[in-house]
Order: sequence, then C-alpha cells, then structure tokens
Amino acid sequence: MYSRKNQRNLTRTEKKRLVGAILELKRSGRYDDFVSMHRHYYVTDAESRPRPAHMTPSFFPWHRRYLLEFEKALQAVDPAVSIPYWDWTRDNTPAASLWAADFLGGNGRPGDRQVMTGPFAYQEGNWRISGGVTGDHFLRRNFGRPSAPVTLPGRADVDRALRDPVYDAAPWNSVSTTGFRNRMEGWDIRGTRGISNHNRVHRWIGGSMAGAASPDDPVFWLHHAYLDLLWTRWQKAHPRSRYLPGRALGAGDPQRGRVFAFDERMPPWDVAPSQLMDHTRFHRYV
Ligand code: CU
Ligand code: CU
Repeated sequence: MYSRKNQRNLTRTEKKRLVGAILELKRSGRYDDFVSMHRHYYVTDAESRPRPAHMTPSFFPWHRRYLLEFEKALQAVDPAVSIPYWDWTRDNTPAASLWAADFLGGNGRPGDRQVMTGPFAYQEGNWRISGGVTGDHFLRRNFGRPSAPVTLPGRADVDRALRDPVYDAAPWNSVSTTGFRNRMEGWDIRGTRGISNHNRVHRWIGGSMAGAASPDDPVFWLHHAYLDLLWTRWQKAHPRSRYLPGRALGAGDPQRGRVFAFDERMPPWDVAPSQLMDHTRFHRYV
C-alpha cells in the first residue's frame, strides 16, 4: 500500500525522483507508448465506435486504470515514486511551485509557446514529443490562453459537480446536462454553460495539454490524479449512489455498444468499471 500525495507537499528529493523516473520512461520509449494509447482511445461522441475514455460514463474508471498502469511503470523504475495530485483550485497561479524549474517547469514563451524551463524543456535534450499538427517537437504551454482568456475552475465549480447525487445521465456523452461525470469531465458542446472542471484545466494550460496527446505534458498525470481523488470524494459523499449505466443499454438506445455499463469490460485491459470502484485496494490519498 502506497500513498499519493498533494504535489505541494513533496520534498525536493521526492520531486527529483519522480522527474527522474518520468525521464527514464521517456528514454526507454515506454512513456510515448502511454501517449499513443491515450491518442488511440480519444474517441469522441461524434463517432459511432465504442468510447471507453472520454465523453462517456467510464471516463473515471478508464483513467483510474490508465494512471495505475503508468504508476506501475514508474515504480518499476523507482519503487518509492507515486503520482502526486495537483489541486488546481488551490495552487491556481503560474507562480505555484508546481511550475518551478525544479519540478515541471513553467509557461511557454510568447510566440511558439515553447516551455523553456525545467526538466521537460526541449533544450535540456530529454523531452522530444511527436510533432502533431504543428510539427514542432517541443513541449508547449499557454497558461490562461491570453488571446481568449480562460480561468482555472474554483472550489464552487468542483462542489457543484460533487453535489450531484447521480453518477451520469442519458445520453451518456458530452451533452449530458446533469450527473457528476459530465459536470466534472466538463463538456459543454451546446455552449450554454461553458466548459468546466477537468476540461477547463486542460484548456487553461493549453499547448500540448489541449489535445488528444495531452499526456505529452507530465502535468497530465497530476491533473488526473486529482480527478481520481475527486471521484473518491463523490463516492464518499453519496454512499448510496452507484455507477451508471448499471447494465448494458437497451436495443433502441443510440448509445448501445458505444458506452460501458458497470460490468462491461473496457479496452485495452479487458477490465470492467465494477472492478475499479475501490481505489483503496491500490493506494490511499494523503
Ligand atoms: Cu484522457
Ligand atoms: Cu484529461
């Protein structure tokens, strides 16, 4: 049993060892395998294929397993390491220690948005990412997106999601207007509420974090560890609530075969949401 800590409480040594393990996974090619997996499962609800990871009820269990797999890879390099969480409602400025040169490095520079500080800066020689649409191989960030400003979500946004006692609701996708899952995942395709929580954090960081290859930025893991922690808080707040849908959707449901019910197994691990409800089997949050 190990602990996941708030990143703001990590010692200098803990940060160094985490960064060291991440860089070793990058060097061996395993890190990029994780990025590829995320790209592969970035299926939107405009497509009719099954979507285990995004715009879907299994957003939480899929990412829980994805983080556990990544953590296992980190621990194979250094058994003392775990994924810390970033509480973006609290450490919510570019001056937070998260972005210091001894940890994740800072914002991108004006113009090309290239991250110039910290261990993941391109010129350090250890962090080359695949080009994507721009063809650039450096990590990019664009805090707050000055051209069309976006703010980080706050405590009230998180609490609004946590208060909803229903896990998810039809149509089980990005336009579900109620339910904890989409309130926290934060889609607003119809454009009436504004993107929120999880999605707004991706958007606030911008650059590499804004697309399907978002794990290219190591802050991805700390962001999703916090979402995983928020899921445990929702479970605790609503002990009688259950993951939904509880069983496979009916024949007439347009989402049938596209979303994963409680006992339906998700790729690539062939594991059902029901097997991922209890994080205390793996670790605890401190
Ligand atoms: Cu994701
Ligand atoms: Cu995400």
